Amino acid sequence: MASSTSFAPAFNCPTRVHGRAEFVKILPTLLDGASWALIASPFIRETDVLVNLERSENPPTVIYDGVTPNPTISEIIDLAAKLPSVDILVAVGGGSVIDTAKGTAALAAIENNAEFFKDHLAKEIPLPDSFTAKPLIAVPTTSGTGSEVTQWATIWGDDGAKYSLSHRSLYPKEAILDPGLCSFMPREVTLYSALDALSHAMESIWNVKHSPITDALAKTAIQLLRNNLGKTLESPDDLDLRSQIQTAALMAGFSMGTTQTALAHSISYPITSDFGMPHGFACSFTLAEIARFNGETDPERLSIVAEAFGCDTAGLANEITQWFCALGVPKYLAQYAKPEDIDTIEGSLINPARAKNNIRWGDNDIAVAIAKQSLASLAPSI
Ligand SMILES: [Fe+2]
Repeated sequence: MASSTSFAPAFNCPTRVHGRAEFVKILPTLLDGASWALIASPFIRETDVLVNLERSENPPTVIYDGVTPNPTISEIIDLAAKLPSVDILVAVGGGSVIDTAKGTAALAAIENNAEFFKDHLAKEIPLPDSFTAKPLIAVPTTSGTGSEVTQWATIWGDDGAKYSLSHRSLYPKEAILDPGLCSFMPREVTLYSALDALSHAMESIWNVKHSPITDALAKTAIQLLRNNLGKTLESPDDLDLRSQIQTAALMAGFSMGTTQTALAHSISYPITSDFGMPHGFACSFTLAEIARFNGETDPERLSIVAEAFGCDTAGLANEITQWFCALGVPKYLAQYAKPEDIDTIEGSLINPARAKNNIRWGDNDIAVAIAKQSLASLAPSI
């Protein structure tokens, strides 16, 4: 008889991944002459990527390089209206760029029906049975979101509400991991995007939908981050280290793409929308306190995370806090929120779709206590 901890293996991901590849060299082969649009953030102008693409035999039909962090419904509707019809979308950037491309592909699949798109996101009106998004090639230039291997896109309402766009056809067709593109990331972005990956991995383990496959992926992702993140911050041009962090983010994305996220991500959304805290900090600063909370009822599950950290379960929360301090997280957190700020958003920290995935249910009061204690530990009032 199956026990409560015995799960049938489950895993989703149809994306073909090209690891340690050179984006500009491999892209023509993948395009095979198809017309394409480039969607990127302004960062791309700091690289030689645009020049190389424009000189290629199959240059982009159109370039849109104005994606900003945390894309809104309005921004995606505006972009979709500007884009000509092409065969393939190519997204080069962080999670916001890839999510923007997914939103644009979704709109194209419903003939740019902006009202239906809004209703789908805000009122959960189902997509039509015939819905099929056009192919997307995802080229992450940050290492954290995992959006290059998931069918999800986070899109923000103009009022700060957070919505999830999801459809199987939104899995990128190809993901190109070019560590050279990651070397342009500033220190803060390197740090918070990696912490997003850490949160995906940990939330995948203390998740009601965990399986032996997702556990193995997530545990290795945590070990790769533990062993390489500090070194990467010290040596940002080391492509071997960048590749290790890319791999960690990919594995965490594979895992989270199957289980989805849990309580730390639930708490993160109002903290990002109200305080402007980057997603990777917002979804990771609570990890030590959530580990403590979950460990009270399920130390066996927490032991997988503790093994990845190289400590025992009882010491896991302190281990996480000490590591975050060594990485310099507190000084960044203090720029965005202090413990008392949580009082202004209490009542909004539980997103049921995320929180219900946590192995232990936490209500709003518990979420408030976790957020306050986490900030008190990592970003005390100054
Ligand atoms: Fe995340």
